[in-house]
Amino acid sequence: MAVFAIFLSLLLTTTLFSLSHQQPPLDSSQQQSLYHILHSLNPTVPWRTLFPDDFCLSAPHGVVCDYPTQLNQTPHIVELSFGYVSDETPNPPCSSNATLNFHLFTSFPYLRKLFFYNCFNHTPITLSPPLSFPSSLEELVFINNPSFISPLASLFQNLTSLRRLILIGNAFHGEVPSQIGGFLNLEEVTLSRNNLSGEIPASLGLLKKLKVLDLSGNKLEGCLPDSLANLSRLLKLDLSFNTFGCRIPESLRGLRSLEFLDLSFNRFGSFGVPLFLGEVPTLKEVYLSGNFLSGAIPEIWENLGGVERLGLSEMGLVGNIPVSMGMYLKNLSFLGLDKNNLDGPVPFGLLENGGEINLENNNLSGRVALSRRVGQKLKLKVAGNRGLCLDNKTGCESGGVLGQLKACKKTDVPDAVVFSGASSLLRFDSLTLLVGLGSVAAGVLLAFTGL
Ligand SMILES: *[C@@H]1O[C@H](CO)[C@@H](O)[C@H](O)[C@H]1NC(C)=O
Ligand SMILES: *[C@@H]1O[C@H](CO)[C@@H](O)[C@H](O)[C@H]1NC(C)=O
Ligand SMILES: *[C@@H]1O[C@H](CO)[C@@H](O)[C@H](O)[C@H]1NC(C)=O
Ligand SMILES: *[C@@H]1O[C@H](CO)[C@@H](O)[C@H](O)[C@H]1NC(C)=O
Ligand SMILES: *[C@@H]1O[C@H](CO)[C@@H](O)[C@H](O)[C@H]1NC(C)=O
Ligand SMILES: *[C@@H]1O[C@H](CO)[C@@H](O)[C@H](O)[C@H]1NC(C)=O
Ligand SMILES: *[C@@H]1O[C@H](CO)[C@@H](O)[C@H](O)[C@H]1NC(C)=O
Repeated sequence: MAVFAIFLSLLLTTTLFSLSHQQPPLDSSQQQSLYHILHSLNPTVPWRTLFPDDFCLSAPHGVVCDYPTQLNQTPHIVELSFGYVSDETPNPPCSSNATLNFHLFTSFPYLRKLFFYNCFNHTPITLSPPLSFPSSLEELVFINNPSFISPLASLFQNLTSLRRLILIGNAFHGEVPSQIGGFLNLEEVTLSRNNLSGEIPASLGLLKKLKVLDLSGNKLEGCLPDSLANLSRLLKLDLSFNTFGCRIPESLRGLRSLEFLDLSFNRFGSFGVPLFLGEVPTLKEVYLSGNFLSGAIPEIWENLGGVERLGLSEMGLVGNIPVSMGMYLKNLSFLGLDKNNLDGPVPFGLLENGGEINLENNNLSGRVALSRRVGQKLKLKVAGNRGLCLDNKTGCESGGVLGQLKACKKTDVPDAVVFSGASSLLRFDSLTLLVGLGSVAAGVLLAFTGL
């Protein structure tokens, strides 16, 4: 009940709207419907006693009216948020036996935002479709309501104004209905951690304003429709933790604004790391881990200098780590290459600015030399590579993860595996490695070595 106490104490600070004498009242159907809603969400609170007046003059946090600009204009309830989130947003709390008749929301013809956080988490409420919402709704948000059990399709009535659909951690099930392509104002569709299944509809490609598409953590399957490539404003595409298969469509090169791509932990097939990634220079984060794409890491990094985080773990990758990754990925702060079958040396220049690099459980070889300065900023994981050894000429302590490496013997392969940033660490063999690349322009080399 601590939550409730905080809630009540904040109620006392609720200020009354100054126009109280001039403003016409909220119409009684909105007033009465809100009492009904509050009571069924939390019957332990005496809502009518605490809020005897017009809700547009004094209301619980989370109830928002549009304050009229002219006298005689009637106010309307435009936002309703329920469920205690934090002390900063003490919305009306829900009780463990919260229920709700969703038809009550049609009493709010000006409602723009409806938000439920942690409201339905004990008593299962199974809703028979369709749920009724006013056509004015722009934002529908359900977060962490695991006992809210409903087919996703039952939401898709009347939502022509919808801009943001955010349903995270509930029990929505069934397919993503193809009608979703009719809600052309959608800018965000986040349906993560539900129980959705089936294939995703090609009609998603019609949502030209979409910036975020997050369907992670469901049981979605099948191939990705080529139409997704039409989402030219998309910034974030997260389809991780599903069972999508087939080939990652090359058409996704059409995602001209994409910054965040997460396709990890699906069942995309052995067609290699998709080459089209090299044609999406806006990318900042790319995660493909946990799909057996197999093959060698391609040379696609030249235009991807903006990539900050790259996850290529558990993918059945073979061959060397391309030297070009160290050359071009200058903004990288996380690189996961663990649990593959990569061999050869680690290229010079990777994660010069610190960060985390996981190379565990491959077949990499060569000397690891790490300056003290970089060592402090770099979280390096190298276990499970029998060919790697620690070069102790550089004065680096052999504690920590590097303690897992044996010290290099004079006879060990001279390939440099230098985590540098300090030009004093540059060794002749690393330079020859670079110069050996015929295509390296002198300017790049200079910038690269910082000389
Ligand atoms: C919910 O539980 C409270 C007691 O915790 C009880 O007073 C109330 O009647 C219950 N409401 C419903 C709708 O079951
Ligand atoms: C659709 O919205 C309109 C206007 O907000 C409302 O009157 C109507 O009842 C809603 N229909 C359904 C099926 O929810
Ligand atoms: C998800 O759906 C399956 C049936 O498709 C059902 O057996 C399971 O209980 C559901 N899980 C949750 C968390 O609702
Ligand atoms: C993309 O949209 C255009 C029209 O804007 C349409 O002609 C084309 O078929 C769409 N592409 C896909 C793959 O759906
Ligand atoms: C790398 O990061 C810096 C600082 O955030 C930024 O200014 C720069 O544009 C980035 N480089 C690329 C190629 O995006
Ligand atoms: C590891 O690489 C060496 C060559 O460096 C090769 O002989 C060996 O077969 C590789 N081991 C595995 C398990 O691939
Ligand atoms: C590494 O250091 C140890 C003692 O600190 C020394 O005995 C050994 O010869 C060194 N190995 C190399 C390759 O320099």
